[in-house]
Amino acid sequence: MKTLKRIAAGILSTALLLGMTSCAAANQTEAAANSAAFTTIESGKLIMATNAFFPPYEYYEGDKVVGIDVEIATAVAQKLGLELVIEDVEFDSIIAGVQGGKYDIGCAGMTVTEDRLKSVNFSTPYATGIQSIIVKADSEITDIDKLLEGDYKVGVQSGTTGDIYMSSSPEDGGVGEDRIERYAKGNDAVIALSSGKIDAVVIDNEPAKAFVKSNDGLKILDTPYTVEDYAMAINKDNVALKDAINQALKELTDDGTIPAIINKYIPAEG
Ligand code: ARG
Repeated sequence: MKTLKRIAAGILSTALLLGMTSCAAANQTEAAANSAAFTTIESGKLIMATNAFFPPYEYYEGDKVVGIDVEIATAVAQKLGLELVIEDVEFDSIIAGVQGGKYDIGCAGMTVTEDRLKSVNFSTPYATGIQSIIVKADSEITDIDKLLEGDYKVGVQSGTTGDIYMSSSPEDGGVGEDRIERYAKGNDAVIALSSGKIDAVVIDNEPAKAFVKSNDGLKILDTPYTVEDYAMAINKDNVALKDAINQALKELTDDGTIPAIINKYIPAEG
């Protein structure tokens, strides 16, 4: 009983202390008050795995990785009193790396899927994405049905949801393995499309817009394929980190920070 009381008192004073610190630092609010509860791979750091060829979520400006995910993760790290460290890796290695304890978070315009949820936890979603179809401007492919019916070759970024959907069998709404060409980067698929090696690319709509802008003679079909939620992948054992990140995301949504970041990169149309 005595020990219990002492522990309770200990927790209380830590809470008080943390309360005081979080009052002192304007940026570290409630989310930081939980910081005693979670651990990260390297103390004081939040290691984020991404694949930085996915504008406007993550891309290079000179030798710096910038974009929506980078800004949101930076703001979250700041709330938690951590320094954000970015690791640019192959997209299809991110989930395994988070699961294996190599990275604290995977933040890469990453869609929440049932299958990925078997390996990692996801934060609350902070953005939505749509899978869209890019074709040549004069393509005879006019919609998804035409793409599925024909004998067309479809390019995807390896391991992405575009890959997962399109490589599934025709009964499951895909074109099947035989018609899929996989690329390490979305833009490599778009370059292959421009040069006529493949007939279409299925990729998230915002990068699709950026790639179409920078490669002549392409267009995006206006039949979107699916709507998805983007969230941060977190190791299943680190529930405390997930909770702290969710708290930070909530605060950053409520105070308008996240909407402002998204709006800066994707100005609302109209
Ligand atoms: N939303 C898609 C997925 O989760 C594609 C994400 C690709 N992200 C990237 N940074 N390359 O599978």
